[in-house]
Amino acid sequence: MRVLVGGGTGFVGGALTQLLRSRGHEVTHVSRHQGPGRISWDKLSRSGLPPCDAAVNLAGENVLNPFRRWDEAFRKVVVASRVETTKTLAKAIAEAEQPPRVWVLVTGVGYYRPSPTAEYTEESPGGDFDFFSRLVSAWEAAAKVPGDATRQVVVRSGVVLGKGGGAVSQMLWPFRLGLGGPVGSGQQPFPWVHVRDAAGLVCHALETEAVDGVLNGVSPASPATSNADFARELGRALGRPALLPLPGWGVRAVFGAERAIMLLEGQRVVPRWALASGYRFVYHDLPSALREVVS
Ligand SMILES: NC(=O)c1ccc[n+]([C@@H]2O[C@H](COP(=O)([O-])OP(=O)(O)OC[C@H]3O[C@@H](n4cnc5c(N)ncnc54)[C@H](OP(=O)(O)O)[C@@H]3O)[C@@H](O)[C@H]2O)c1
Repeated sequence: MRVLVGGGTGFVGGALTQLLRSRGHEVTHVSRHQGPGRISWDKLSRSGLPPCDAAVNLAGENVLNPFRRWDEAFRKVVVASRVETTKTLAKAIAEAEQPPRVWVLVTGVGYYRPSPTAEYTEESPGGDFDFFSRLVSAWEAAAKVPGDATRQVVVRSGVVLGKGGGAVSQMLWPFRLGLGGPVGSGQQPFPWVHVRDAAGLVCHALETEAVDGVLNGVSPASPATSNADFARELGRALGRPALLPLPGWGVRAVFGAERAIMLLEGQRVVPRWALASGYRFVYHDLPSALREVVS
């Protein structure tokens, strides 16, 4: 398959590109930066979709950048980097003479209302109660392409764990110094997926004709994992104590109250349709996922 991947130069995109190439697919990235094997968003808007069998969008400004103040200007960048890139790809797909057979968008479990008890499958409602849920709704709506020439799939991802990127890369140094610990109460659910499985789920969606609609992109162990479990297992994987809690007020001070919700609250998400559609997770349990991350 010839696969066009928006934002394919990033953390999940790197793993996806490697996996797709290892399975004999050709990959072209859509990027803000020039380079071999890349086209620009501008060229995509002006000249339309290059010949391809599948399209994926992974583009999005890093929400949890601790050096960016959570103000109106940054919120706009966070939204536009997701919704506008998705619109650009969806428009190019809708207007293509030979549309791709499948189109996959990766969004987030922020679609579901944070709760210490509720469990969410792909059918659960969400999407209309806070900034992040409304962002995911607008993002997924932007991906809609009329007609049925192209199969459409959304992967709602949890926190992606892997080497050299994502949230865990920012947490590693305090944990290595023995200064890590749970965030806030630590009781909040911690929806997670290993980057190999985030890429694996996208690849599964591309290759499996029966997959349509939403897949929850979280590990099967995710609904039983709390933030305190995550901190304890990361400490264990590093052979360091992880007993120093990061207080909620500190998280709010660095990230702003609205963004801090992503860290201080969480969702219990079940990958029901991901499993029922035949995806076999590589990383089922948190200890083995974290051992790989720190290895
Ligand atoms: N990582 C996670 O824990 C996680 C969890 C849930 C959902 N997701 C979603 O999954 C997708 C992929 O995640 P990731 O961790 O791989 O992301 P990432 O590495 O932070 O970024 C992916 C790519 O997005 C493009 N990008 C960044 N800022 C942009 C901007 N302002 N405008 C346009 N493009 C921009 C970049 O590509 P170029 O520099 O080549 O343009 C970058 O390589 C994102 O949409 C993210 O929201 C990630």
